[in-house]
Amino acid sequence: MTQLNGKIAIVTGGGSGLGRAMTLRFARDGARVIAADLNEDGAQETARLATEQGASADRVVARKLDVTDERACAALVDATLAEHGKLDVMVANAGIGTFGPIADLSLDDWRRVLDVNLTGVFLCAKYAFRAMQEAGGGVILATASVAGLEGTPNLGAYGPAKAGVIQLIKTIALEGARHNIRANALCPVWTTTPLVDALVANNPERGMERLRRMVPLGRLGQPEDVANVAAFLVSDEASFLTGVAMPIDGGHTA
Ligand SMILES: NC(=O)c1ccc[n+]([C@@H]2O[C@H](COP(=O)([O-])OP(=O)(O)OC[C@H]3O[C@@H](n4cnc5c(N)ncnc54)[C@H](O)[C@@H]3O)[C@@H](O)[C@H]2O)c1
Repeated sequence: MTQLNGKIAIVTGGGSGLGRAMTLRFARDGARVIAADLNEDGAQETARLATEQGASADRVVARKLDVTDERACAALVDATLAEHGKLDVMVANAGIGTFGPIADLSLDDWRRVLDVNLTGVFLCAKYAFRAMQEAGGGVILATASVAGLEGTPNLGAYGPAKAGVIQLIKTIALEGARHNIRANALCPVWTTTPLVDALVANNPERGMERLRRMVPLGRLGQPEDVANVAAFLVSDEASFLTGVAMPIDGGHTA
């Protein structure tokens, strides 16, 4: 367990997969978490699961958010400051996938993936940065991917967006250092979430086996593998870590 007692965190994409696992973990470690998601029902389910795990009803609250909407991102940060007086942690995690060769990638799909996966991180980080600068510090964490560290066939929009997230995070880390704002990126390999289920929907058994073979440790990641690292990175124990793109990949990038 890390110590997140008293911390106020926003987790985007908190209604599913990695965002849900991070929200539940942060809550167990003592943080108050705003699970923000385009899918409000998913976020509410995350809040319900937190209470099922013993959290009080106000420990995780669900909020609807479209991370591509600048005004909505600003309003969520403002509402958090109004309610809690501060924002310690912003996890810009919401993301979508698209799969297929570059020659077939439509401009619409390219724009949609860049919009959610890169611009969405920028907007959440921008307003979090302002609040943290004012308060004298904070932590920004973004979910990038191993696909942002290396080329990946069939991820022609997703990979470049995630590489952009890593560069953005390094820039924020350097700009944030003098304000005591840390910024890091998570780089998971294939991890069992609805996003990956959708990817292998045509032939789940064969698809999962193909993904497993890419991981030296011989299994896909679990959302908790990512949540464990995230809880450490946003905690004070990681106070000397900033500008890092952390693979959580069972040895894949090795
Ligand atoms: N699962 C993996 O293998 C894997 C690996 C590396 C990185 N990632 C990244 O992890 C993050 C979480 O993915 P996941 O696997 O949990 O997928 P997921 O589909 O389970 O969850 C993504 C969540 O983001 C939300 N979302 C989508 N668009 C949004 C928007 N515009 N505004 C707000 N919320 C929005 C969805 O409603 C969903 O709840 C993504 O950034 C993804 O790219 C996933």
